[in-house]
Amino acid sequence: MKIRPPSTMHEYAEYYEKRWALLRKPWSEPRGSEKDNLEQESYHVIAIEESNIIGGGRIHFNSASEAQVRYMFVLPEHQGRGIGKEILSALESYALSQKAKVIKLNSRENAIPFYERQGYQVSGESPKLFGIIAHKRMQKSIWVK
Ligand SMILES: CC(C)(COP(=O)(O)OP(=O)(O)OC[C@H]1O[C@@H](n2cnc3c(N)ncnc32)[C@H](O)[C@@H]1OP(=O)(O)O)[C@@H](O)C(=O)NCCC(=O)NCCS
Repeated sequence: MKIRPPSTMHEYAEYYEKRWALLRKPWSEPRGSEKDNLEQESYHVIAIEESNIIGGGRIHFNSASEAQVRYMFVLPEHQGRGIGKEILSALESYALSQKAKVIKLNSRENAIPFYERQGYQVSGESPKLFGIIAHKRMQKSIWVK
């Protein structure tokens, strides 16, 4: 299993397809809803095993010092293997290399314990996704003197 940015058009297509299948389709959200207008300027990573993408995640900057993680996923049959942790760590390393001081995200209720284990703290309520999925704001300071 390797964690790295997607490198071909085919890999990007598979990455977006799986994002949609895991994070949008179960709530009947249409294809296209798995993307926002920050894809081009964001940093993406995939977890790839035997040429199959089994996880992914993205980070973008809200300001020079604040980065935000979105669209974290690991396919159900591969969850619990430490892959989410490795994806998040790769996104954090990138943010640190770009001099981010804090990383923010909106976590679904089910993923809060995962982010807490990686050092994130709940900082407030966030609007429900699709009007259904409870969400909380979380953040982690990564600033090193
Ligand atoms: C959330 C998600 C990305 C985590 O990925 P994962 O590969 O299963 O997580 P890992 O195996 O890397 O887990 C890392 C640690 O978090 C813990 N953890 C992961 N999910 C957890 C959960 N739901 N509850 C409690 N602990 C959890 C693991 O036990 C592990 O602990 P350890 O480091 O002490 O061994 C994955 O479960 C997922 O894709 N879920 C569905 C989509 C989703 O909700 N995405 C997040 C959108 S905000």
